[in-house]
This record gives sequence, structure tokens and C-alpha cells, in this order.
Amino acid sequence: MILLTGATGRVGRALLRRLTAAGEPVRCLVREPRRLGDARVRVQITLGDLADPLSFRHAMRGVDTVVHLAASAREQPGACIEELNGLATWGMLRAAERAGVRRFLYFSALGASAHHGVRFMRSKALAEASVARAALPHTVIAPSLVYAPGDRLLTTLQRLAWLPLVPLPGSGRALVQPIWAEDVADCVVAILAAGEQAPDRVELAGPDTLTHAAVAKTVLGALGRSRPLVKLPLPLVQAGLRGFELGAGPTTPLTAEQVALFDVEMTSSEGTAHAESLGVRPRSMGAVLGVGS
Ligand SMILES: NC(=O)c1ccc[n+]([C@@H]2O[C@H](COP(=O)([O-])OP(=O)(O)OC[C@H]3O[C@@H](n4cnc5c(N)ncnc54)[C@H](OP(=O)(O)O)[C@@H]3O)[C@@H](O)[C@H]2O)c1
Repeated sequence: MILLTGATGRVGRALLRRLTAAGEPVRCLVREPRRLGDARVRVQITLGDLADPLSFRHAMRGVDTVVHLAASAREQPGACIEELNGLATWGMLRAAERAGVRRFLYFSALGASAHHGVRFMRSKALAEASVARAALPHTVIAPSLVYAPGDRLLTTLQRLAWLPLVPLPGSGRALVQPIWAEDVADCVVAILAAGEQAPDRVELAGPDTLTHAAVAKTVLGALGRSRPLVKLPLPLVQAGLRGFELGAGPTTPLTAEQVALFDVEMTSSEGTAHAESLGVRPRSMGAVLGVGS
């Protein structure tokens, strides 16, 4: 039995489709089962929340492998970013060890470090450190920017493309190597299949190294709407969002912490090598979105 967290996210959806098609028994730890869509009839469901470590214990019964994708780049009611990513991962590992789980796959992020300027990246480093110290066999998977047609980033850009100028928070210069969620899911399937031979750490990147501005241009190009980008200074955007958060509370659609990720570099010197060693050749963002087709 595989315990999958984050099954309703970009990577989770793509991975769950592959696992259920292969007939793998999967239990999904979710906050809201309806968000699983049709897949919810093909899996076991356990209600849980990263903010509630006690919910992990029940989820682990009979589980052989944990694939821990769930994460948050923003505060949630009842838990801060560090609790949702760092502490929850630690709690999940302890619950897994107690239940006799045999493998733990953890999704971090390229460039995560304990001294990073962005809290999300620090919390991922914290989680990585507990995974590295865990007694059970594990693989840390660190992707660059992961995207999927229809996801929040692409949909927002699609909406903004109706404007004559498209606003972009930050300098637009931070580099990423965008990788399609479907390619990431293929890599996870290969890591699962590798069993004990799987490496301790895998860095997943797409074939192109692009600035955030170039990513936005690629998405706009796919829509056939070439628009000038207006780069908005990050401190200014964050100050505005903080003010908004004070009034709107946890329901605000975008937070200052999330927007900080627009200036975060996520690259691997390995490029696509790790994915290719797993038998996956990641496609370029242009090819996936059909730019120029
Ligand atoms: N997307 C990227 O560019 C990127 C880059 C680097 C690393 N990563 C990491 O890769 C992994 C997968 O990314 P993704 O893009 O597929 O994530 P995603 O689309 O943002 O999905 C996040 C998932 O986490 C779940 N989740 C959030 N808060 C939760 C909570 N309190 N309790 C339980 N579940 C919770 C969400 O469930 P709900 O449906 O309930 O919200 C959702 O299934 C994550 O660990 C992410 O940090 C992603």
C-alpha cells in the first residue's frame, strides 16, 4: 500500500493516475476527498491535515511506502509555513517509522537551504534534513518549477493576458528549469520501481533554463498573445499584499510569502540528467504548451 499526500495537487494528480492505472493500492491523505474527483472511487481515503500530525498515525496502517507531496507556501488557519512543511514532515517520518513503513519519498524544492531568504525554502530544507536523518530508506526529490496546463500559475497568466500589459512580481530575472507535472510523475514511478536501488536524492529539471519573465512570455506565446511585461518591485507588491492580508485574513488569494517565490532561483547543475537516468526525457515548456504549433 502506498500512502500518497498531496494527491489533489499538480504532481499528485498525474502520479495518482499512473498508480491506479497500474493497479497499485493507494491510500490518499486528503483534507477534502471531493477534490480527488473521479479518482476517489479507486483509492482508499484517509482524512488528514498537515496541521494535524495526529492524523498521520491512522493513515500509516498497512503502508509500505509513503510519497509525501503535500506542502504549502502560505500560512493556513492553525499552522504556519514551517509547521506545514518542516514539522509535518518530521511528524510523518516518525509515524512512518513507528508503523514499520519501508520507504519514504519526500518532495523538496531545488535550492532549498536553511539560510534561504524565503520561508518556504527554509521550511523545505528543514524537512529535507529530517528525511536525511531518518532511519528508513528514503529519496528526496527536488524539482524546479513544476507546471501543468490549467494550473493556478498558468491560469492566472491566461487571465492577465487580456490586459494590454502583463504585471510580473519581482525582477523577472530569477532562473528556473520548468518541468511538466506529467514528466515529474513519470520520474516518481521510476523511483518507486527502482526499489532499494533508488538514489537518496534526485533533482528534477526541464530542458530549458528560463527566467521567470521568459516563462511568462512562453505562456503568453502559447496563447498567441504577446504582451509587454511590467515588472513590479517585490517589496512594493509584498507591502500591498501584507496590508490586504491584514484585512482579508487567511482567505486572501495570494500572500506576500507566496509572491516571494517569483524571485527564487530553482536550477540544478545536473539539468535533465537525473530524470534521464530514470528513463524520462522531460519535454520543454514550449513543446508542452504548443508554442508555435
Ligand atoms: N509546483 C512547483 O513549482 C514546485 C516547485 C518545487 C517544489 N515543489 C514541491 O513539489 C510537491 C508537489 O508540488 P505540486 O505543485 O504538485 O503541489 P500543489 O499543486 O501546490 O499541491 C499541494 C498539495 O498539498 C495539499 N495540501 C496543502 N496543504 C495541506 C494540508 N494542510 N493538509 C493536507 N494536504 C495539504 C493540497 O491539498 P488541497 O487540495 O487540500 O489543497 C495539494 O494536494 C510539493 O511538495 C511542492 O512544495 C513544487
